[in-house]
Amino acid sequence: MKATGLWLVLLAAMLTVIFTATGNAQYRAAPARQGGLEAKLEYCKTCHGLSGQGYMGYFPMPRLAGQQPDYIEAQLRAFIERRRTNPIMFNVAHVLSPSMLTALATHFRGLNPRPFGGAPRGSLAEGKKIFEEGLPEANVPACSACHGTDGHGQNEIPRLAGQLYPYTVGQLSGWKTERGQGSAVDTSAIMAPTAHNMTRSQVEAVAAYVSNLP
Ligand code: HEC
Ligand code: HEC
Repeated sequence: MKATGLWLVLLAAMLTVIFTATGNAQYRAAPARQGGLEAKLEYCKTCHGLSGQGYMGYFPMPRLAGQQPDYIEAQLRAFIERRRTNPIMFNVAHVLSPSMLTALATHFRGLNPRPFGGAPRGSLAEGKKIFEEGLPEANVPACSACHGTDGHGQNEIPRLAGQLYPYTVGQLSGWKTERGQGSAVDTSAIMAPTAHNMTRSQVEAVAAYVSNLP
């Protein structure tokens, strides 16, 4: 009996190895790895929306349309190096070559769909005030100082305009567990104190405000 039990354990372990290997082989054949730029862009758009406008699935898929290319490229590298933790985007990005990262990042710049919409409208005025003036009493600087008065960002500072409300709320609330991970200090450190010093309702107000900016 004991010998049979051991054999079953070994068999199960072998099967696990075989199935894992097969699974990986299938994953390697997924569209992200094959084909040129067009095929990869089509893949991105299955989640991020046909015109990069974002998509509300089980998770919010952020808007990439009009996003700063330097920012997109920097974030793809952050996913690959696990400084930014997200299992979906790690799987998507780690197979991409450096020149493909640059080509993909540049593509979204030219897209300009309308904001996705759907954010609560109750605290838009408070959100506008935070965006333009910050919260001096809480050491929160004006967002517009870095992200631009139109919220379009520049270089490695992202565009916030038109971003999906639940995505922005999620990033600002989860900053310290999802971004700037590991020992290397990166650009995410610039935002960390700001994200930390806002209350949940202030985060919601400013996220709703920027989600409507064209
Ligand atoms: C299976 C769905 C899926 C696919 C396919 C996908 N993404 Fe994503 N992407 C996501 C999700 C979900 C997030 C949000 C991650 C988070 O919460 O940190 C994201 C985040 C991003 C971000 C960060 C955006 C920001 O504002 O910080 C970039 C850049 C990005 N994706 C680029 C791409 C590119 C380029 C492709 C195609 C090569 C792609 N994605 C394909 C689901 C996907
Ligand atoms: C001192 C400059 C600076 C100020 C002020 C600032 N930000 Fe940022 N913000 C950044 C930088 C740089 C990043 C990119 C961080 C990274 O590389 O991960 C960023 C990223 C973000 C992101 C992530 C966007 C995405 O697509 O994932 C959000 C959301 C954000 N900022 C919101 C705000 C809000 C709201 C305010 C005002 C309360 C604000 N920021 C003020 C510099 C700033």
